[in-house]
Formats: sequence, C-alpha cells, structure tokens
Amino acid sequence: MDVFTAISQRSSVRAYKPTDVEEDKVKKILEAVRLSPSASNRQEWRFIVVRNKETKKKLAKAAFGQSFIGEAPVVIVACGTDSKAIMACGQPTHTVDVSIACAFMILQAYELGLGTCWIGAFKEDETKKILSIPEHVRVVAVIPLGYPNQPLSQKSRKSLDQIVCFEKYE
Ligand SMILES: Cc1cc2nc3c(=O)[nH]c(=O)nc-3n(C[C@H](O)[C@H](O)[C@H](O)COP(=O)(O)O)c2cc1C
Repeated sequence: MDVFTAISQRSSVRAYKPTDVEEDKVKKILEAVRLSPSASNRQEWRFIVVRNKETKKKLAKAAFGQSFIGEAPVVIVACGTDSKAIMACGQPTHTVDVSIACAFMILQAYELGLGTCWIGAFKEDETKKILSIPEHVRVVAVIPLGYPNQPLSQKSRKSLDQIVCFEKYE
C-alpha cells in the first residue's frame, strides 16, 4: 500500500472486533512511532501500550465514557515527557512531536488492516492517575487499536481551494 492510499482510505474506527492484535503488528506500529521525526530529534515521548481489560475500561471512563475505547484489544496512550519545551515559533514541542508520531502510528496501523481513532476528549488528570504517569508528563492522545467492526466511512473534507492560498494569506 502506498502512503497516499493509506491517507485517503483511512477513517476513524469506533467499533472493534474482540480479535486480539498480533504482537508483531503492534511491534511494527511502535517501530513507526520510534522512527517518527521530532524537534531537534529529542524524542521526548513515551507510549504506553495497554491490553488489560480493567485498565482499558477505566481509560474509557476517563474519556467521557467513550465505551469503544474499552472494547479495543489495545489502547496506546501517547505522552510528551518534556512539556516545558517551546519551539522558536512559539508552539509547544511535545504536542507537535507526539502528534506526528501518532499520525505515523495510525497510518501504519491502517496498512496492517487495523483501525484506530484519535481520542482527544479525555480527562488528563484521571488518565494520568490510572496509568501512574508522573506529574511533569503530558498526555497528548489516547489511541484505541484493533480490527474494525464497521464499514469504512466516507470522508467529509473542505475542498482544496477552501484551505489553500498562494503567495499570501487570503
Ligand atoms: C485531535 C483530535 C481529537 C479527536 N478526538 C476524538 C474523540 O475524542 N473521540 C472521537 O470519537 N473521535 C475523535 N477524533 C476523530 C475525529 O472526529 C475524526 O478524525 C474526524 O471526524 C475525521 O474523520 P476520519 O478520522 O474518519 O477521517 C479526534 C481527532 C483528532 C485529530
């Protein structure tokens, strides 16, 4: 599968089969994460792989009851380990770095036939408590992972001319 095929065909998955995800597939997804770029190549991140049923249920509760998180065989919690670093452009480094790694993660997962859904609606304090995440570490995203139990949905996106301009901001 080429990159554009993965980008254009992937969609968020909010229903998962109970089938477990093979360890070698999880490993390849984590390898995609490991190889992702980061500001100054600092790799200030930590990815927690959760398979424990009770823990996943707690994570779903911390995500405002999005129960499909608890039903996915694997949940990956993506953290930035240096939340103080700010790039010269003013953007917080950890949010950008971890988001890039998560984007690579979901595309790699798609290529392996697996579904994901980026979860940004979660209570960070509660999530950190569940997983014993230290105070200085920030949780950027929670990503359930598993075999899809729903058809792929159609993409609804703005057109290129709505989002692109040339030479100056218009
Ligand atoms: C930063 C971010 C946060 C998101 N948070 C949630 C969420 O908490 N729950 C959810 O079901 N989907 C969440 N999504 C998924 C989006 O709703 C979804 O990507 C968008 O509607 C486009 O659909 P697609 O992923 O199927 O192409 C999030 C996506 C992003 C990028």
